[in-house]
Amino acid sequence: MTKGHPLNIIKKQIENYFNDVWGKKHGAKMSIFDDLSPVMNTYKAFDELLIPLDHPGRQPTDTYYLSQEQQILLRPHTSAHQNEILREGITSFLCTGDVYRRDSIDATHFPIFHQMEGVHVFPKEALPGVEEKDTLLVVEDMKMALEGLAKHLFGDVKFRWNSEYFPFTDPSYELEIFFREQWLEVLGCGAIHQQILKNTNLSPRRGWAFGLGLERLAMILFSIPDIRLFWSGDQRFLSQFSSPSPSTPLPKFKPYSKHEICTKDISFWLPPSFHDHAFFDVVRDVAGDLVENVTLIDSFKDVSSGRESKCFRVSYRSMDRNLTNKEIVPIQEQVRARCESELGLKLR
Ligand code: PHE
Repeated sequence: MTKGHPLNIIKKQIENYFNDVWGKKHGAKMSIFDDLSPVMNTYKAFDELLIPLDHPGRQPTDTYYLSQEQQILLRPHTSAHQNEILREGITSFLCTGDVYRRDSIDATHFPIFHQMEGVHVFPKEALPGVEEKDTLLVVEDMKMALEGLAKHLFGDVKFRWNSEYFPFTDPSYELEIFFREQWLEVLGCGAIHQQILKNTNLSPRRGWAFGLGLERLAMILFSIPDIRLFWSGDQRFLSQFSSPSPSTPLPKFKPYSKHEICTKDISFWLPPSFHDHAFFDVVRDVAGDLVENVTLIDSFKDVSSGRESKCFRVSYRSMDRNLTNKEIVPIQEQVRARCESELGLKLR
């Protein structure tokens, strides 16, 4: 993440908040981690975080496994580093990194994005040592810290806390802010599960953790319309984000003219137990960031055979140049061929 890149601006603002504003008030300093390897095993990514074996996040339709045995994978979230850092005895930290997930294809999803994890474990003597009371104090402190962060980033906004579920925090919440006339989810968080503190030899201490997506925050803050822009080398994009000082409002992205869109439809009969992510994956693999959106436009079940058919509209558009039909036809052909040979889809 280079200087002046919108993701780096947000990362620095969050680091500044925790070390200069929150940190000074709490007499705490958060250690910064941002170069930990994204290649890891399932123990670290899931087991150590108490994520059950049947959790959808473990499925190869969600996660990028690097080994046939599904032991080695690309980190699906930065929470995967909580245990190792806590075990080193570091109890207040921010950890940023690229994370990898298979997902739908639209303006807000890309298979690689960036997350930031924040963890704070209280010193032993900071809490009364009574379970319910401790949990309450931890949650209260966490909410204050994160409301402060939201104000630091978004100005004087309204908040809303919703109950959530994460296997590694209990209780768990998500924070929503009311920004430009709508409620937007900005982060997930909670009191660190006591089992994790036991496993990292920190029990009976207690603490909180949060995780947020940097692209999502940057898209909201700067009004960036498409997640692929973060990968653009176009100066019309990059030059818009000079590093602001904390007191000046963040610049709003000024869209430059969009290039032509080119859409192609594809219909097929599905094999039994088919996951749409497998199709999205082939499209991404063939078309990379030339694909802007894939939408289901029709689906039906043939009553006599029980077979299901789906039709998707694939929209191609480059962030940097005009695409010609001549360029897209062979790409779509490749998508079609791989749907048949790799996914067993029957084209219609
Ligand atoms: N890892 C969670 C996610 O990717 C976010 C999270 C982090 C939630 C830490 C709670 C505590 O959605």
